[in-house]
Amino acid sequence: MNSILEEIYRTGRCVDLHGAERRVTGGVPRDDACVLQEFGRLAKARTTLETGVAFGLSTLAICEVLEQIGKHGACHYGIDPDQRTVHGGAAIQNLRRAGLDRLFELCEGPSHLMLPRLLEKGIVLDLAFIDGWHTFDYTLLDFFYIDKMLRPGGFLLLHDCNWRSKVKVIGYIGTHRKYKPMPVRATTRLSSKQRLKELALGISRWLRGAPYESVRPSQVCLPTIAVFQKLENFEPDYRFFRNF
Ligand SMILES: C[S@@+](CC[C@H](N)C(=O)[O-])C[C@H]1O[C@@H](n2cnc3c(N)ncnc32)[C@H](O)[C@@H]1O
Repeated sequence: MNSILEEIYRTGRCVDLHGAERRVTGGVPRDDACVLQEFGRLAKARTTLETGVAFGLSTLAICEVLEQIGKHGACHYGIDPDQRTVHGGAAIQNLRRAGLDRLFELCEGPSHLMLPRLLEKGIVLDLAFIDGWHTFDYTLLDFFYIDKMLRPGGFLLLHDCNWRSKVKVIGYIGTHRKYKPMPVRATTRLSSKQRLKELALGISRWLRGAPYESVRPSQVCLPTIAVFQKLENFEPDYRFFRNF
């Protein structure tokens, strides 16, 4: 892992574009950064995207893999309405310090406005990471547009996949598109009480008709990151509906 990312994990701090020190909050934990890198390598990624850049921990992890793979024209699109305002350009500064900024393109705005622009440009993605606004509706929209750009065989990763909003989107993916859940090592150390709670929640969802894949705690509920491989470009029939 690159030294800037290591430094952020060690100190919990970084410096923004104006030279001000910032406390880093809300970034992906180290284990999840490793998962992003693992699937970036597996995809032999050239073009990647994430919603939600913030301090750019996931961004640093993904850009580092793009550099290592070394494909011509490699680019990581990062969508965030608040990068230069709320976060003071901290992710941009971190990428500069790591020498990875040339691989990064900031799409400054909310994902529901930025994703259609990228789709219109004809961008084809090898890997996409959803970590923007975490409610069900925004996450579903992120997925809807990303699905249209992700190539078959490419990887979709969702952060905080144990949140109820994300579990619901995962249910949609399982019922309305063709994606395969990929095994991910559990990255959150839950207490046995939390594990039991997750399990009970999963079973009650399953009893209410949620697809099995979205409730299997060993794959989806316990790690904070869920990974899916897109199997094919698929849209169901005009009349199709399944509960999720
Ligand atoms: C959890 S943080 C992202 C963390 C980042 N992936 C990392 O690992 O460092 C979520 C970020 O989403 C951004 N955000 C808020 N609304 C958004 C929207 N409508 N579209 C995309 N990103 C949004 C915020 O700036 C916020 O910092």
